[in-house]
Amino acid sequence: MAKVKSKWVCQSCGYETVSYLGRCPECNQFGTFVEEITNVVKKPDNAKLSNTILSDCKTYKIKDIKLDEKTRFKSGIGELDRVLGGGFVQGSLLLLAGDPGIGKSTLVLQTTKNICEIEFNGEKLKVLYICAEESPMQVKLRAQRLGVEPDNLYLTNETCIDEVVNKIDELKPDFLIVDSIQSVFCANIASSSGSVSQIRECTNALMRVAKQKNITTIIIGHVTKEGNIAGPKVLEHMVDTVINFEGDKYKQFRILRCIKNRFGTISEVGVFKMEDDGLMEVASPSQMLIESTENATGASVVATLEGSRIFLHEIQALVGATGYTNPRRVAVGLEYNRLLQVIAVIEKKVGLNLSKQDVYVNVVGGLDIIEPSYDLALCLSIISSARDIPISPMTIVIGEVGLLGEIRYVDNIERRLKEAAKLGFKKAIIPPVSDKNFEKIKKIGLEVIQVKKVTDAIIKAMSAK
Ligand code: TYD
Ligand code: MG
Repeated sequence: MAKVKSKWVCQSCGYETVSYLGRCPECNQFGTFVEEITNVVKKPDNAKLSNTILSDCKTYKIKDIKLDEKTRFKSGIGELDRVLGGGFVQGSLLLLAGDPGIGKSTLVLQTTKNICEIEFNGEKLKVLYICAEESPMQVKLRAQRLGVEPDNLYLTNETCIDEVVNKIDELKPDFLIVDSIQSVFCANIASSSGSVSQIRECTNALMRVAKQKNITTIIIGHVTKEGNIAGPKVLEHMVDTVINFEGDKYKQFRILRCIKNRFGTISEVGVFKMEDDGLMEVASPSQMLIESTENATGASVVATLEGSRIFLHEIQALVGATGYTNPRRVAVGLEYNRLLQVIAVIEKKVGLNLSKQDVYVNVVGGLDIIEPSYDLALCLSIISSARDIPISPMTIVIGEVGLLGEIRYVDNIERRLKEAAKLGFKKAIIPPVSDKNFEKIKKIGLEVIQVKKVTDAIIKAMSAK
């Protein structure tokens, strides 16, 4: 009997070794190594495949390459098109990643409704949906509920990648959906489906077909418990676009965030609401994340900029005596290290001792904030909770906090305040701005207070007025 050969592969970054390692030397994560069998089960016919591709390869002058309407087409879902930078690019490979149950399958199914209506040269686009996780019947049930039953949507629950490629050859679709990449497998590789080797090989096969036949492809991928797309480094560099679908699956709001895009910017986000009849677009999302903040201690509101839109987030903090030797610091929706940094600034520059206090902070609404303009709001929420003094009502707080306790400038303050004023905010605490800028900001109609230090901000934000 042939000897079984194996290697150990980090499931996070794809690093390979011959024996088990507790910590990955590449991505520094613990316990991510899984043994994968490397024996080739069947002789791969990659050689044949690459020959067929090579015979099609030509050299073009850039001027001679023609672009037509088919090169870029809209998905018909405004929020998705915004994130994609104007729609799908023909022949591109897109990875849609997110937690299980967040609504990835629902989103792609709703997209097919519009895609199947698109016509080029009198023919409607053909969509092939590889439902590797669910049976076609289950997908049909969901489609019925969503009111999506176009003529030229084809379903298959084939999970072997070679068979999938055969099906593509037979049907010649213009658009392909693979739900999900963790559930398809390549028969040439012995390791189980979902492992890094399998994902890499399957994505490779799909990439070859998509580029060769100009099929626009959406690959759905689950994220791991650490919050990475399974085999993230491996997958991310292979595809053209990576989109994350985020949010708290027990709440309604979902955010679509682009983290790589070869054909557009990555700054825009799309906002959806999960309802009984599927995902609905939210065109003006600024207010959706705020709950009542009147007279609550430990809550403040910040205006953040995501792409071209302003979001208002409420940051809540709870500070209380600890029952542990090491006090707990828990951050939900914002970066843990920023929380530690803000706590350090509070201790040193404000003189508030938190070494015997647990600190819990949460961004209401279940969405993550990425940009640093929330530092000051975070700082004030923590102090407000620790001292049990509410922040004055209808106050918007913007600013990054430096290690010296200084408040740093953030971009687009005027636009952020305009949005806050629209939603009825009365007072704004902001970093120092130039006189010219201040003149403009004053016209918005808010009471605007510039603060240079964290200590100034505390006095101004917690005054009774
Ligand atoms: P799904 O698209 O199956 O998630 P994923 O493919 O990312 O795992 O969405 C599942 C959740 O969405 C499920 O918990 C129920 C909810 N949902 C609705 O609330 N309304 C709907 O119309 C649909 C189809 C799903
Ligand atoms: Mg699904």
